[in-house]
Amino acid sequence: MSSLAKLPRYAGVLAFAPMQAKDIEDVVCTENDAYPFPWTRGNFLDSLASRYEAWVAREADGRLAGYFLLLPAVDDVHLLNITVRPDLQGQGIGTQLLDRVCMLALDAGIGAILLEVRPSNLHAYAVYRNAGFREIGRRKNYYPAAGQSREDAIVMRLTLDAGKQ
Ligand SMILES: CC(C)(COP(=O)(O)OP(=O)(O)OC[C@H]1O[C@@H](n2cnc3c(N)ncnc32)[C@H](O)[C@@H]1OP(=O)(O)O)[C@@H](O)C(=O)NCCC(=O)NCCS
Repeated sequence: MSSLAKLPRYAGVLAFAPMQAKDIEDVVCTENDAYPFPWTRGNFLDSLASRYEAWVAREADGRLAGYFLLLPAVDDVHLLNITVRPDLQGQGIGTQLLDRVCMLALDAGIGAILLEVRPSNLHAYAVYRNAGFREIGRRKNYYPAAGQSREDAIVMRLTLDAGKQ
């Protein structure tokens, strides 16, 4: 997927807004397009009900470009889901979403972001490395995988430098 890195930058302007129940239809649709093992509608509704920090980014014409969900803890923000619509991937939108995640963490006075990624998700791993995340461990058999098997998770962490923002 390294060819994604060579696509031109997304030229539009994205509007960010907290995710609401009215967004769920679009979010579930994009989620199903983006993952072989997507979150369910119930996962998103539960996250909203639990008041996780959830945001959507929409294009000027209102189409959903991406979204993310965060679970703030004491020492770090756990990035639970970050997704860009498949036809928009590789144009810098994921980086815009990550920038927004960093801003939210710093606003909340939290100096680090934690996430899990599949070792097979080379594009996401490269994007996170590019953003400064570093591998801090593995979770054995964390994800469902093809044919009833499981895949480990790489745990990555980004320490934020409040002075740079
Ligand atoms: C992972 C995801 C959110 C990244 O978003 P994206 O919009 O595709 O990523 P970007 O275009 O912002 O790429 C970010 C940076 O990584 C770089 N990059 C991308 N692919 C790369 C690669 N294979 N090798 C090295 N660098 C790479 C890009 O050059 C870019 O750097 P720059 O902004 O300094 O130029 C998106 O691809 C996605 O939704 N994937 C499917 C769902 C998913 O896997 N989510 C993550 C689950 S852990």
